[in-house]
Formats: sequence, C-alpha cells, structure tokens
Amino acid sequence: MKTNYKFHKEDEITVLTGAGISAESGIKTFRDRDGLWENHRIEEVASPIAFSKNPEMVWKFYKQRYLQLAKVSPNPAHFALKKLEDFSGSNFNLITQNVDGLHQIAGNQNVLEMHGSLRHCFCSKCLQSFEIKEIDLDQIIPKCTHCTGNLRPDIVWFGEMPYKMEIIDKILENTKYLIVIGTSGIVYPAARFLSIAKYFGAKAIEINLEYPLNSTVLDEFHQGKAGEMLPELIERWIS
Ligand code: OAD
Repeated sequence: MKTNYKFHKEDEITVLTGAGISAESGIKTFRDRDGLWENHRIEEVASPIAFSKNPEMVWKFYKQRYLQLAKVSPNPAHFALKKLEDFSGSNFNLITQNVDGLHQIAGNQNVLEMHGSLRHCFCSKCLQSFEIKEIDLDQIIPKCTHCTGNLRPDIVWFGEMPYKMEIIDKILENTKYLIVIGTSGIVYPAARFLSIAKYFGAKAIEINLEYPLNSTVLDEFHQGKAGEMLPELIERWIS
C-alpha cells in the first residue's frame, strides 16, 4: 500500500470519520443504494419538524438505533485510530459525524462528536440532559423527570448547528494532516472541512470505498474498506 507520508510525534494530526468507518461493525451507512436509512427517508426521522409532528415514530426509530449498539463492536479501523492517538498524544484530534460511540469504546479519548450521541438525550422544554441508560425506554415518548417535557435524542438533526464547531475551526486551521475516512462528503459543514484544512496548508488524505465528490483537494486517496486498509496505513505512517 503506497503512501508518501511519515508522521512525527510533533505533527498535528486530525481525523474526520463518517458512517463508512462503522460499516464493517455492522451499522448501516446513511446513503445506501435504496436511498433509505434503515427503511426510512432521513428527513422523516432526523429533523426537528419530524420530531414535533411525530415524536412517537422518531423515538421508535432512535430506540432501535440505541438498542443496536449493544450488538456491535469496534472494528480494526477504530482500533487503528486508537493506535494513532497513542502515537500522537495531545497532537491528535478525532472529529466524528458518527453517533455510535465506537471510537470511545476502541479507546480513543480526544473524540469530538459533532452530530451528538445515541447514548444521550435531553429535554426539549428545559434542556436538562440525560444518559439514555437512565431513561425508561418502555415509555412511548420518554418524559423529562424534572419538568415532564418530551425528551429527545441528543442528535444534531437537519437544520441544527453541529456541536464543537469553534474548537473544530481552530483544529482545521492548525492541523498538518487531515485524514478523512468513510464519509460521502454530502452533509455540511463536515463536507467543507477538507477544503478549509487545505486552505490553511494541511495535507489531505482520504480512505473510502468510492471516489469522493470533493476529491479535487486530496493529496492521497486510498480506495477500499477502512477496516482492511487503515491498520496497515497507520503502521506505515508512524513507523
Ligand atoms: P454516508 O452514508 O453519507 O456515507 C458513507 C460513506 O462511507 C460513503 O462515501 C461510502 O462510500 C463509505 N463507506 C462505506 N463503507 C465503507 C468502508 N467499509 N470503508 C470505507 N468507506 C466506506 O455517511 P456520512 O457521510 O457519515 O447525520 O453521513 C453524514 C451525515 O449524514 C451523518 O452523520 C448523518 C447523516 O445525516 C446525522 O444523523 C446528524
């Protein structure tokens, strides 16, 4: 596997992951060939309007996604990123669009979950947050124990502002490498991260099954499954 790079401990290294990194763990990506996400159109279950119109259906959907987490584990791509963080220490940043928590289970610590987390929810009325494991999921629409408002999954839905953007902007300005893994590059603002990091002088590397839309800004593209390619690539980058 050919790569032109060797990383040093003092290099700032940033990784952006999308659903593709968890595909080999058995979690479906969002934009499969049928255009549906676990039998739903994304807008049906991932927007504030969908939640206000039909909270029951949205909760049913996210409860299934949450319960699925008990059956999945990190794959070799997640563990390879733990190895990269061990190498780079505080110079390592992992930005993820994923809400499955598999990076943390693999042992990564500096994880920025820009689209929220399936393991958390918050009250749509008083904003109190809860871990899903504290909630009685037998309730059709789980209620806040403080004010009885409707709880909602702590997921950044369409039309909402992703988390940690101030920190992410600074990281993109300063990173020496941006490694993008398993994202279609369709959803903003993450789709813009490559060109921002490139503008500030970073080297851009991508690993994906398919050639990405924003491929013009890449310095290296590695086509294939992240779980099969990443362990070897990281070994080369840090050896
Ligand atoms: P997508 O489903 O849009 O894209 C998944 C990408 O992973 C595609 O480019 C695939 O080619 C690639 N892929 C699939 N299997 C792979 C593998 N084994 N190894 C490497 N690459 C693989 O998912 P995202 O780009 O993550 O937001 O979607 C972005 C956001 O859209 C999600 O975070 C989600 C959705 O709306 C929220 O739910 C808030």
